[in-house]
Amino acid sequence: MIVLGIETSCDETGLAVYDSEHGLRAHVLHSQVELHAAYGGVVPELASRDHIRYLLPLAEKVLAEAGIDKQQLDGIAYTAGPGLIGALMSGAALARSLAWALDIPAVEVHHMEGHLLAPLLEAGAPEFPFVALLVSGGHTMLAHVSAIGEYELIGQSLDDAAGEAFDKTAKMLGLGYPGGPVLAETAKSGRAGAFSFPRPMTDRPGLDFSFSGLKTFALNTWERERRNTEATEQLRADIALAFEDAVVDTLLIKSKRALEQTCCTRLVVAGGVGANRTLRARLQKLAETRNYSVTFPRIEFCTDNGAMIAFTGCLRLQAGESQPLDIDARARWPLSQLEALKH
Ligand code: KG4
Ligand code: ZN
Repeated sequence: MIVLGIETSCDETGLAVYDSEHGLRAHVLHSQVELHAAYGGVVPELASRDHIRYLLPLAEKVLAEAGIDKQQLDGIAYTAGPGLIGALMSGAALARSLAWALDIPAVEVHHMEGHLLAPLLEAGAPEFPFVALLVSGGHTMLAHVSAIGEYELIGQSLDDAAGEAFDKTAKMLGLGYPGGPVLAETAKSGRAGAFSFPRPMTDRPGLDFSFSGLKTFALNTWERERRNTEATEQLRADIALAFEDAVVDTLLIKSKRALEQTCCTRLVVAGGVGANRTLRARLQKLAETRNYSVTFPRIEFCTDNGAMIAFTGCLRLQAGESQPLDIDARARWPLSQLEALKH
């Protein structure tokens, strides 16, 4: 089965062709980072318009790169939520219209399920069950995954998501947008031990997260210390490092706890913050010392992309799922509402 996947939930237009026999055939991405940078964050209306501008040319490009004609497609998969409603609708409209014109099924894909299954695109994908650590701009969660579509939420953020905390802290430090990668880059010149930030909610049982206080801690440190120093560049880097360290450590402690609690030995990491190299290295080390396995998507599939949507949609289409012609998208969509695959 050959499936075209379309991702437009936020600020990346991602398209991909996934072939159930030969794997991923092509993927293309247009990032809107430059468009939104001037505003310090995503402007929803601009995002929708930009998706509309790029969707058709990218669809043609990805089909050409996959070496197929649109008539060879067996199905279309698109992100139907959660996300920005206008952005979602632009992808949904193309997916539904194309499916109607080609007389093939189209399937809605849950954006977070896409992230969660992205590591399975890689060679040596883990078997079920596993624990998934999902760390994106909008969500932080730990889930026990027993099969595709069977996700038991065992921990989540009570306030800011990990990526959101990176973005907001970077903005406070005057590092610009998007915050995660630039903060991580700045942290490289930080001095270890210059500051020590708290590891929120690790001193009590449970798997929930709270990153909002950490962001305030970073702000207070920045406001207090900058009055006493000329070396603001170094101070910025020291705070970035202390912040990154605290977030990574917290994610590490909770992932370890989740593995112990569920008696799982396999951890899968997904979502934009999964691109963080410190997080990857420290989780890898944990896995080696404890005999766990840890799987990450390749860096480009940690952040939003069409490949994860084409792949997830293909699995659901193969199981006979598809939805009627209505063009529908959901700004909110709890992962717990997904149904297990029918065999
Ligand atoms: O999964 P994603 O592309 O979009 C959502 O579904 O939210 O995640 C984007 C988030 C942003 O908050 C971004 O700052 C963060 O992932 N991010 C990172 C890194 N690369 C992206 N955070 C920390 N370190 C990185 N290297
Ligand atoms: Zn995402």
